[in-house]
Amino acid sequence: MKTERITIADAAKHVGETVEIPGWLYNLRKSGKIVFPLLRDGTGLMQCVAVKSALPEAVFDAIKDLTQESSVLFTGKIRADQRAPGGYEMDVENVDVLERIPESDPYPITPKEHGIDFLMDHRHLWLRSQRQHAILGVRHEVIRAVRDYFDSHGFTLVDTPIFTPAACEGTTTLFEVNYFEDEKAYLAQSGQLYNEATAMAFGKVYCFGPTFRAEKSKTRRHLTEFWMVEPEMAYATLEDVKRVGEEMIVFVVKRVLEHRGAELKALERDVSKLEAVQLPFPRMSYDEAVKLLQSKGSEIQWGGDFGGTDETLLSQENDRPLMVDGYPSAVKAFYMQPEPSRPEVALCVDILAPEGYGEIIGGGQRIHDYDLLLRRIEEHKLPKQAFDWYLDLRKFGTVPHGGFGMGIERCVAWICGLEHIRETIAFPRMLYRLHP
Ligand code: 4AD
Ligand code: MG
Repeated sequence: MKTERITIADAAKHVGETVEIPGWLYNLRKSGKIVFPLLRDGTGLMQCVAVKSALPEAVFDAIKDLTQESSVLFTGKIRADQRAPGGYEMDVENVDVLERIPESDPYPITPKEHGIDFLMDHRHLWLRSQRQHAILGVRHEVIRAVRDYFDSHGFTLVDTPIFTPAACEGTTTLFEVNYFEDEKAYLAQSGQLYNEATAMAFGKVYCFGPTFRAEKSKTRRHLTEFWMVEPEMAYATLEDVKRVGEEMIVFVVKRVLEHRGAELKALERDVSKLEAVQLPFPRMSYDEAVKLLQSKGSEIQWGGDFGGTDETLLSQENDRPLMVDGYPSAVKAFYMQPEPSRPEVALCVDILAPEGYGEIIGGGQRIHDYDLLLRRIEEHKLPKQAFDWYLDLRKFGTVPHGGFGMGIERCVAWICGLEHIRETIAFPRMLYRLHP
């Protein structure tokens, strides 16, 4: 009978059976006549036990001489062992070495400490390490939960284009590309404007895809390419936007806690901080936030946008995300609906993640009046002909509407408790990083 091939994650179902597991050698410990290869297969780690007296000499020698990250296929019997990393061990019966990495040109990432530049240059290999594996596992869960939230709350997924003819979030962070002969296109900064059109067709929609910002800022919060989920709702006000934002965040955090305990543990994340993320989120106006920041020594004046340090200060105040609304229209995008009683502030909200993480969501209500929108497009010196279709939405059955965008990487950085956003995406794109 052919030996069954399994994954480490499935080991529990095969106790007492002889199976084969394909993988890579994570580590090798030797103790006299026994060697303990630690096998990695992408689903987990498993300690294997190879006993000299129980194996043909050639098999034992092949195992004893394995090098880190060599590709191997182990055959052996699964045994439960409470002390083992995943709860199970394999008593090795045979090994098939697909590629043994020679000592002369060893795997570059060793268990010793490496500098961040070295690791980023070897990102294609660094992804195999336990910590990076855990972060990307959490990222997958966050994305799945985000989709599940919207799919089960009446939203239709409608993806928006990446080549766009105009700016959405301001002209200073546009990536320009040549679009055939003499046309210029820009990589999408957000799918929002197109989402506003699809929301008028479906009522509630979301898009989820890569977005691009030519951010010249070298901070722990900025990528030049990041993934954003953007819901948009017809017949919605700022209050609706806030409610969906807080509900979605609570849903996502709960899901990660339920399904990714092992990853959070590997990251040494204090999960009590995540368990505290419950409804409702505290709310604060921009006016109050400015006063609070000034009392803490910030230089901020009314009318200015928050800097990174301001956001850090604000988001250290609470144990759950903070919603700040009513920013001055002047610091926000052209499409923001003004507050009727105070037109100098916008019907917008930023949601700041706690523990100093800062903004993870930005959104609000959009201008639904044709004349006002046209005026804003002119004030912002945007090319009117590129926005003709967007203005049409205010001509043909216009309604109050709104939505938000959440950057997946900022959300993952917070949930994982990371110093820097660069570890939250497999191949980060930043001001000084386009390789590998
Ligand atoms: O606040 P932003 O710029 O809002 C928009 O793009 C709106 N059009 C969204 C909408 O209402 N549909 O960006 C939204 C979120 C931010 O809160 C942040 O999480 C993330 O996108 N983000 C970035 N993430 C990583 N690197 C960057 N350079 C980012 N810029 C924004
Ligand atoms: Mg923003």
